[in-house]
Amino acid sequence: MRIYVLGGSGVLGQVLIKQLSQHVIAAPGVSEPRIDVGDYVALCQSILQFAPDAIVNLAALIGLENCAQHSAEALRVNALGAANVALIASELDISLLYLSTSSVLNPTSVYGKTKLMGEQVTRSLAKHFIVRAARFFGSLTEGATGLNKVLHRIKAGEEVSVVGDAQVSLTYIPDLCVAIETILQSGRYGTYHVACEGETTLYDVAAKFASQLGNGARVHRVDAAFFAKDYSVVRPSREILMNTSIAGFQSRHWTKCLEEMQ
Ligand SMILES: NC(=O)c1ccc[n+]([C@@H]2O[C@H](COP(=O)([O-])OP(=O)(O)OC[C@H]3O[C@@H](n4cnc5c(N)ncnc54)[C@H](OP(=O)(O)O)[C@@H]3O)[C@@H](O)[C@H]2O)c1
Repeated sequence: MRIYVLGGSGVLGQVLIKQLSQHVIAAPGVSEPRIDVGDYVALCQSILQFAPDAIVNLAALIGLENCAQHSAEALRVNALGAANVALIASELDISLLYLSTSSVLNPTSVYGKTKLMGEQVTRSLAKHFIVRAARFFGSLTEGATGLNKVLHRIKAGEEVSVVGDAQVSLTYIPDLCVAIETILQSGRYGTYHVACEGETTLYDVAAKFASQLGNGARVHRVDAAFFAKDYSVVRPSREILMNTSIAGFQSRHWTKCLEEMQ
C-alpha cells in the first residue's frame, strides 16, 4: 500500500512511520519538507505526485490551552486543513484516515470543537476512517507533552503533582499504531475508538510508573482545583472512551502497556 502521512514528525507520527515501514510512505515534514495542511495547492501537488492509495491525517494543533490561545490557527489546521485533505482524497477516490480525540465527545474546548469539525468533513467521504484516541502515553522523548511529560519527569527523578480526581481513558501509542495499520488494511470504513482497557486517573498512572521504576521520584495526588489558576479551559471530570472492536487487533489494559515503559 502507498500511504501519504501528514503530521508524521509529531509524537504519534514518529512511531507510526516505523509501524508502517512495510508500506511505501511519503511523510512531508520527515523525509521531505513539511507541507502546510492549510495550503490546498501545495498539498494537492504533493499528493498527486506521490499517488497514494490512502492518506493518514495526523496534522493538528493540539493542547486545550494552546488551541484556546491560538483559536484561528486551531481552526485552520484541525478543521480547514482536514477539509483540504478530504477534498483531495475525494477527488482521487482514495481512503482517508483522520486521527481524532475523545475531546470530541463533549466538545466544550476549541480543541474539541475544531477536531469535531475535522471529523465532520472527513465523514463526508465514503472512504473514511475516523480513529478517536484518548490521552496518549508511551513516548518519553524530550519535549513530550501531557501525560508523557509527567512520566518523563518521573523518569528523571523529579517530584510531580498529578490530578487524582478525574477519570480518564488512555491510549498507548505503540498499540494505537498497530490499530491504525490494521484499520487501514481492513478496508472497513467508519469511526473507531482506540483506548486501553480500564479507566483510571493520571495520578494512578504516575504513581504506578514511579513504583515500577523505583527511582525515588515522588508523586503527589492533587485535585483538579490545584491547577485551576494555571488553566483557562475547564477540564472534564470524566472523559472515557469506550473501545470499538477491531478485527485482528486486541486492546490491552493500561497497566500491561505501562509495564513495557522503561
Ligand atoms: N496527544 C494526545 O494525547 C492525543 C490524544 C488523542 C488524539 N490526538 C491526535 O493525534 C494526532 C497527533 O497528535 P500528536 O500528539 O502526535 O501531536 P504533535 O506531536 O503536536 O504532532 C502534530 C503534527 O502535526 C503537524 N502540523 C501542525 N500544524 C501543521 C500544519 N499547518 N500543516 C502540516 N502539519 C502540521 C506537526 O508538524 P510540526 O511539528 O512541523 O508543526 C506535527 O507533525 C492529532 O491529530 C491529535 O489531535 C492526540
